[in-house]
Amino acid sequence: MSRKNQTLGEFIIENQTSFKYSSGELSRLINSIRLAAKVVNHEVNKAGLVDIIGAAGDTNIQGEDQQKLDVYANEKFIQTLTKRNIVCGIASEEEDDFISINSQDENNQNKYIVLIDPLDGSSNIDVNVSVGTIFSVYRRVTPVGTPVTLADFLQKGSQQVAAGYVVYGTSTMLVYTTGDGVNGFTLNPAIGSFYLSHPDMQFPEDGNIYSVNEGNYIHFPQGIKNYIKYCQQEEEDRPYTSRYIGSLVSDFHRNMIKGGIYLYPQSSKNPNGKLRLLYECNPMAFLAEQANGKSSDGFTRTMDVVPTELHQRVPFVCGSKNMVEKCEEFMRKAEQ
Ligand code: AHG
Ligand code: MN
Ligand code: MN
Repeated sequence: MSRKNQTLGEFIIENQTSFKYSSGELSRLINSIRLAAKVVNHEVNKAGLVDIIGAAGDTNIQGEDQQKLDVYANEKFIQTLTKRNIVCGIASEEEDDFISINSQDENNQNKYIVLIDPLDGSSNIDVNVSVGTIFSVYRRVTPVGTPVTLADFLQKGSQQVAAGYVVYGTSTMLVYTTGDGVNGFTLNPAIGSFYLSHPDMQFPEDGNIYSVNEGNYIHFPQGIKNYIKYCQQEEEDRPYTSRYIGSLVSDFHRNMIKGGIYLYPQSSKNPNGKLRLLYECNPMAFLAEQANGKSSDGFTRTMDVVPTELHQRVPFVCGSKNMVEKCEEFMRKAEQ
């Protein structure tokens, strides 16, 4: 029985048996993420103090400049999951290819793979605005004890066994699901423990916040333009409020608590949008659905999209159920 003030460690132990196929492996995985999150949190908190901010000089596979904290967070999460021999494979937004762990070791009986966006919202690092980490967990589809293959990573989002995020905000929170609702834990920095502060999180069915980079308006498809105009119309419950942080994790977190919709649509510049299906959209879609929200590309449920490549991008509309459905209605109408 979960109760407020429970530590994340206690919660994981108490809920271990409620996971399908529970063997303690998934619990150890969440524990490792908790540990890495604390280490990264410590570094993020110091970002303004030490000379760690700014571009590291590298460019990732998607042609974006990497900031130093991206590199740091990437290393910490990979190290923690690798050294503790928790998973059999990792794919990261910051790595060109997936990593196979102990692929030569037949004793590696680990069955889970992790996909991770180690630092989300990286353009916000050097301006002291909330950033996050997003993770997504699957059971491998290839036999245990063999090296992982691309097929283990290119699974539909509906196959996820766990997903979550850490938001390094005014407070640091870890929010996750194992398919049995969404729970949020807040870090007490004095003690270094996460406490259950937001049990059973739910998106309000309706909301009045829309979150979109409206600077790209001119490039959006007609359905999205019409939906944005709808959000701005004078009606009983409208115009809605516009809130856009530019860190998906933070925008999603606020919308889940207050009720709202997040949009990163396709555009004439980016025909598939910007966000990555495997590292960003699927984990957020799993959380949204587990919290009574909804997620799609405007037409198709996010978690039903069949991935064809590791760094694939998809248009993304996610949030309060009625708002997402209204947006989909505008998309369909504009197609006719
Ligand atoms: P990342 O820092 O991992 O590359 O992700 C940034 C993403 C997402 O967090 C955010 O919502 C979006 O990019 C912002 O994009 P724009 O600056 O184009 O609005
Ligand atoms: Mn991101
Ligand atoms: Mn990132």
